[in-house]
Amino acid sequence: MRVRIRAPRREDVQAYAEAVRRSAEHIGRWNPVEPDGLPELLDRQGAGLRTYLIEDAETGGLVGKCNVANIVMGRFCNAALGYDSYLPFAGTGRMGEGMRLVVDRCFAAEDLGGLGLHRLEINIQPDNERSIALARRLGFRHEGFTPRMLFLQGAWRDHERFALTAEEWPTPTRI
Ligand SMILES: CC(C)(COP(=O)(O)OP(=O)(O)OC[C@H]1O[C@@H](n2cnc3c(N)ncnc32)[C@H](O)[C@@H]1OP(=O)(O)O)[C@@H](O)C(=O)NCCC(=O)NCCS
Repeated sequence: MRVRIRAPRREDVQAYAEAVRRSAEHIGRWNPVEPDGLPELLDRQGAGLRTYLIEDAETGGLVGKCNVANIVMGRFCNAALGYDSYLPFAGTGRMGEGMRLVVDRCFAAEDLGGLGLHRLEINIQPDNERSIALARRLGFRHEGFTPRMLFLQGAWRDHERFALTAEEWPTPTRI
C-alpha cells in the first residue's frame, strides 16, 4: 500500500492548513476550503463523526481527508462519506487507495477496531466527475437524485446519491 489512514491529531494542524491552502483551487469548486478548520473538526469527533486522514506511507505527507459523518447506529448503522484530496498527491490514485482503507474501517466490526457500519452513502454534485469516478471505483451504486440537498458555494445544490452496503464489500480484515 502506498498510503495508510489514521485519526487526526492536534499536531496535524499546521500540515493540514498547508495542504488545504495549496489545494484550495482544486477543492474549492466542490467543497468549502477551510485551512484552519482542523481544531474545530477535532472538537467535533465523537459518536456521530469520525475523521480519517490519508497519508503517504513513504513521506507521511497528507494525501487527503475523509469525514465519516452523520453516523447513526441502532437499526440503521449508516453514515455519509465526505472527502478531499490534497496536492501534490491528488490524481495519483492514492486517494482511492486510502478510501478503500476507510471503507474497510467503516464496515469492520467494532471488536475488530472498525465502526461496525452496514451502509455508506456518498452524495455528489452531478458535474463532479472525479468524485463520481472515485465512488464508482470503490463499487458504490447510484441510488438516486436528491434535489437541493446541501448548501454549498452560496446555493442549495442537487446531489446524486451513491451507496454501498457491507454485503457488497470484501470481508473486512482485522485492523
Ligand atoms: C474527488 C477527489 C477526492 C478525487 O480524488 P483524486 O485525487 O482524483 O483520487 P485519486 O488520487 O484516487 O486519483 C484518481 C485519478 O488518478 C489517476 N491515477 C494516476 N495514477 C493512478 C494509479 N496508480 N492508480 C489509480 N489511479 C491513478 C486515475 O486515472 C484518476 O484520474 P481520473 O479521475 O482522471 O480518471 C478529488 O478530486 C477532490 O478532492 N476534489 C475536490 C473536492 C471534492 O470534490 N470532494 C468530493 C465531494 S462529493
